[in-house]
Amino acid sequence: MDIGIIGSGQIGSILARRLAALGHQVRIANSRGPESLAALAAATGATASTVEQAASARDVVIVTIPQKAVRELPRGLFAGSTAIVVDTGNYYPARDGRIDAIDQGLTDSEWVAQVLGRPVVKAFNNIVAESLDSRGVPRGTPGRVCLSVAGDDPAAKHVVLRLLDELGFDGLDAGPLAESWRQQPGTPAYCKDLDRTALQAALSKPDATGIPSRRQAADELVRPFFEARQPGARSPRST
Ligand SMILES: NC(=O)c1ccc[n+]([C@@H]2O[C@H](COP(=O)([O-])OP(=O)(O)OC[C@H]3O[C@@H](n4cnc5c(N)ncnc54)[C@H](OP(=O)(O)O)[C@@H]3O)[C@@H](O)[C@H]2O)c1
Repeated sequence: MDIGIIGSGQIGSILARRLAALGHQVRIANSRGPESLAALAAATGATASTVEQAASARDVVIVTIPQKAVRELPRGLFAGSTAIVVDTGNYYPARDGRIDAIDQGLTDSEWVAQVLGRPVVKAFNNIVAESLDSRGVPRGTPGRVCLSVAGDDPAAKHVVLRLLDELGFDGLDAGPLAESWRQQPGTPAYCKDLDRTALQAALSKPDATGIPSRRQAADELVRPFFEARQPGARSPRST
């Protein structure tokens, strides 16, 4: 497939390497331009691109940038595109600042779809980079990690589920995008490396009234990490 990846951080670079190794044509972009991606391109076999070039990939475009940065993408980026857009994002106020529409009830990915003006499929948001890189195994392996895929277009989800399988993961259709709060930060289905049965149970556990409190708890957990990554932050003392 012809695949674009917008974001070359932890998730974007792993997906670029793994998808290129599977024989897909991969273009990858970041905020600093293709020149900054020369080493990654050489190491992965992906093509260093502009955001516009990555967004024009024919089959799938994976948007894997901090939630707040979705607003910075060029307007009309996907105009004329028929590719499936995959959103790996998570809303963390500690990193992204407050996003009122999500605080008032939109799921993280419904907001992304609204900002992009395009339907999205939510996937890869609930596995940590290290597991994405290392836990892929052949289909049928006992305990194979299963990932949930939410979205409103069954055909688009089918394509993403196939990609998951190629990458070494089981996949589970988690329903429409409006239900994707079930795999957001703080839920039982978030980053636990569960197999299919356990993931299914985890997705059915939480109730919608707990969304704000789960978000707050997850945000408090990661706040020190994001604060340490702020420009000008002092690195932790070693003594
Ligand atoms: N890390 C994880 O374990 C993990 C797991 C699941 C989901 N996620 C979610 O997936 C998303 C990406 O996470 P990550 O950890 O891979 O992020 P990351 O390591 O912080 O990398 C972010 C990437 O986004 C790029 N970017 C930022 N603003 C951009 C813009 N306006 N245009 C184009 N590219 C832009 C950055 O470009 P530059 O390099 O040029 O700055 C960077 O390559 C986040 O929403 C995160 O919450 C992360």
